[in-house]
Amino acid sequence: MRLFGLLLLYLSFWTSHSVFKIPLKIFAGKFNASVQLDLRPLTQNEDKADRGLSLASDPAGTVNFLDMINNLKGDSGRGYYMEMVIGTPGQTLNVLVDTGSSNFAVAAAAHPYITHYFNRALSSTYQSAGRAVAVKYTQGEWEGELGTDHITIPQGPSETIIINIAAILVSEGFFLPGINWQGILGLAYPLLARPDPSVEPFFNSVVRQAGIPDVFSLQMCGAGVSASTTADPVGGSLIMGGVEPTLYRGSVWYTPILEEWYYQVEVLKLEVGDQNLNLDCKEYNSDKAIVDSGTTLLRLPGNVFNAVVEAIMESSLIQGFSAGFFDGIKLACWVRGESPWRFFPKISIYLRATNTSVSFRITILPQLYVQPVTDIDGTLDCFRFGISPSANGLVIGATVMEGFYVIFDRDKKRVGFAVSTCAENGGVPLAEIAGPFLAEGVASDCTAGVSLREPLMWVIVYALKAVCALVLTILLILLILPCRRHRDGEITDESSLVRHRIK
Ligand SMILES: *[C@@H]1O[C@H](CO)[C@@H](O)[C@H](O)[C@H]1NC(C)=O
Ligand SMILES: *[C@@H]1O[C@H](CO)[C@@H](O)[C@H](O)[C@H]1NC(C)=O
Repeated sequence: MRLFGLLLLYLSFWTSHSVFKIPLKIFAGKFNASVQLDLRPLTQNEDKADRGLSLASDPAGTVNFLDMINNLKGDSGRGYYMEMVIGTPGQTLNVLVDTGSSNFAVAAAAHPYITHYFNRALSSTYQSAGRAVAVKYTQGEWEGELGTDHITIPQGPSETIIINIAAILVSEGFFLPGINWQGILGLAYPLLARPDPSVEPFFNSVVRQAGIPDVFSLQMCGAGVSASTTADPVGGSLIMGGVEPTLYRGSVWYTPILEEWYYQVEVLKLEVGDQNLNLDCKEYNSDKAIVDSGTTLLRLPGNVFNAVVEAIMESSLIQGFSAGFFDGIKLACWVRGESPWRFFPKISIYLRATNTSVSFRITILPQLYVQPVTDIDGTLDCFRFGISPSANGLVIGATVMEGFYVIFDRDKKRVGFAVSTCAENGGVPLAEIAGPFLAEGVASDCTAGVSLREPLMWVIVYALKAVCALVLTILLILLILPCRRHRDGEITDESSLVRHRIK
């Protein structure tokens, strides 16, 4: 959910003609003028988003990728979604492609922000599993019931697949105004599935039943396109079963998947312009670094974010530029036709290659992280900062993914990057990829000791629960004992137990 909430709020704020502070800033000799919208009231909203997907194969088991090209719609702000037909007879719904979660979930009850939902009663093949399920995202959450049903993907593998479906009955902050999807397709590993990893995720089911290779790849074509609630959604492709050569240029570089829960990778180095941030490489992976199509922005751990912003301000011509822009609470606007991009540096992320003694780098041009949002009036172009701080790890979200064709090669436990054919502006590519590099960072383990893996977390959670239960039991016993004694006239209300508990 996460990232598009913020944007939607901006937009709904605008369209409702609310009053903005619009301080005018003149950058003599550099820009004509810069106007910044004060979006402070909107900052309580998180900025993470997720969702979308599709696939295809012929009867011989050879996958026909061409059928899957352009099977996605959407944008970075509200996510990319794919059409899917669920149940018997089929009900058509759009689902968000999210590589950062592992449940397939669709609305199964009316909600003000969605046009239609999956009606279980009308599907003769729907089977309830009689289990409750709930998922909490960075922003938004839902609760529902687990079941199974048949699905087909119009622009995907030709087989009908039986999959686990979470029927969303209640949700909070999950469906948002203006969205055109009614469900979410979680493409990560079983470890993230709720209520537990025994609920086979969608893509595992597809691979098992359609017999396609355990690989999918994603091209999201929102780079440089203004995200607005009214514009035609841009496209994208979710290729299930392999790699479609017409969707990228040059070579594919692969980085190992460190652990199969999220698509966790190892970041070795960051550069802004040509300047190495020079942080301890463990900071980049604190507490994990993942590739997540469901996150709108490039999210960086706090220290890294601060260093990146500082480096951007230093290496560009925009010293004195309002901090509000980098904090994500203001948009920067220029007179139409003034491109702000030439004032910003490139950003490079170095990833460990599958030959672990070298790295490669993926580079995004400012067109990807200084993102057009919408016009305030006919004379201004406005932009938001596509990078935000994160308290739960580095997230290579849509901001970066839109520059690349990203291959989730689960079979070989690696994620591949190649320059996307749709990430260009006037014939100039907006992303670059290069390697191999024998950087200093390559020698060290940049992840050691920083990450609490999920299974370990569960052990800790259960242990803590046990301790809590024990403590509570003791407290209750102590609470009851004094009362008894009080009845005996031995102890007065001076017993501090209750007061301490209230504290
Ligand atoms: C800035 O742009 C506005 C609108 O295009 C124009 O009227 C004005 O003369 C420009 N100012 C400068 C200093 O170029
Ligand atoms: C990995 O890269 C190093 C450095 O370039 C090279 O010496 C080595 O031969 C490579 N290993 C493999 C298996 O390709």
